[in-house]
Amino acid sequence: MNLQNGGRDIPVTSTWHDLGPVEILKNSPLQEISIDGTRIALSFAEGEFSAIGGVCAHVGGPLGAGTLSGDEVVCPWHYFRYHRKTGICRLGESHEIAVPRYELKIEGEHLFLNLAALSPGKPMGEYHGSLTRPIQREPGPIRIAGISTTIMTPGHPRYSTSEDLLETALEHGRAQLQAETKTLRLRDLHFRPCEGYYSKSVHACLWPCTITRGDKNDELSQVYEALIYWADVILIATPIRWGAASSLYYKMVERMNCIQNQITLHNKVLIQNKVASFIITGGQDNIQLVAGQMLGFFAELGFLFPPFPFIAHSLGWNAENMERNMKYVQRSRMLRQGARELVRRAVNLSRTLVESPLCESEVERAGRKASPAEG
Ligand code: FES
Repeated sequence: MNLQNGGRDIPVTSTWHDLGPVEILKNSPLQEISIDGTRIALSFAEGEFSAIGGVCAHVGGPLGAGTLSGDEVVCPWHYFRYHRKTGICRLGESHEIAVPRYELKIEGEHLFLNLAALSPGKPMGEYHGSLTRPIQREPGPIRIAGISTTIMTPGHPRYSTSEDLLETALEHGRAQLQAETKTLRLRDLHFRPCEGYYSKSVHACLWPCTITRGDKNDELSQVYEALIYWADVILIATPIRWGAASSLYYKMVERMNCIQNQITLHNKVLIQNKVASFIITGGQDNIQLVAGQMLGFFAELGFLFPPFPFIAHSLGWNAENMERNMKYVQRSRMLRQGARELVRRAVNLSRTLVESPLCESEVERAGRKASPAEG
């Protein structure tokens, strides 16, 4: 039997295993130990060792690589807290999950662990929420979700060039193309920024998003609902801020990592046969860079694009006269016409895809994401 503890071989006796010299093990308040594939979170505090299972009952985070806070082992992935002696993690008043706990003894100068657990684990169980229902297009007219990413002071509406053109496009969709439309203004939604679980492990980034699962007040679920279930076409409008899309746009797309990650992890493409188009306006330039990012990101999610998938406007580097910029857009018949033609192209493509879907079930992965996640 091959046991590992920091790369050292550990002698084996029945279910008791020698973890090594107490004096060395004392030096780490929390460490991960692996015995024949069983991961243990070994802690030492106030002169006493404790051992509990090292695999978080939530979705498998490495507890031994977390932190010790008082008598609690804090999972490094989503910060669930387990009592280091009982292995219990309380989630609210009446709900608890647990990892196994193990018996320890000191003989001579060595610490021993009995791999026959004193208590079993209690797993979290599968998450069920509205965003886990099967993805199926409901019959009916083409549905367009307009997403405005511009920021405004609450209670003080101002004219927005990108939102004006978005409303023009949606109005055309309703009145002339017989589409259903809805508008989501990100500034009206309360949602938390992505907390970077993916940066710890690809397996720590979940669908539905970990924040959506745990925070009932987080309203990005409205955007997920529109993108994954309701809409055939999404139309995203952004201003240009310092050469990039708005900060709210980035706050939204970072939270969409969990959609893309399903392709990497499970070869599961949540977005199929859907169309994306963009409206980009700014006092200053950088339209091509902003459009390039948007096209690249939404292509990675699985969206398809009509010919000429964005319209844009900017006054340019030497024309920083914002009053003039607003008047220009308000009066521009060309831009308004461009917004109508953009939505028409998007709806035409969407109609074709509804009649003969391009992706029926499995979609080939491509690009960098052709490589499955390791581990
Ligand atoms: S809190 Fe441990 S895996 Fe989520």
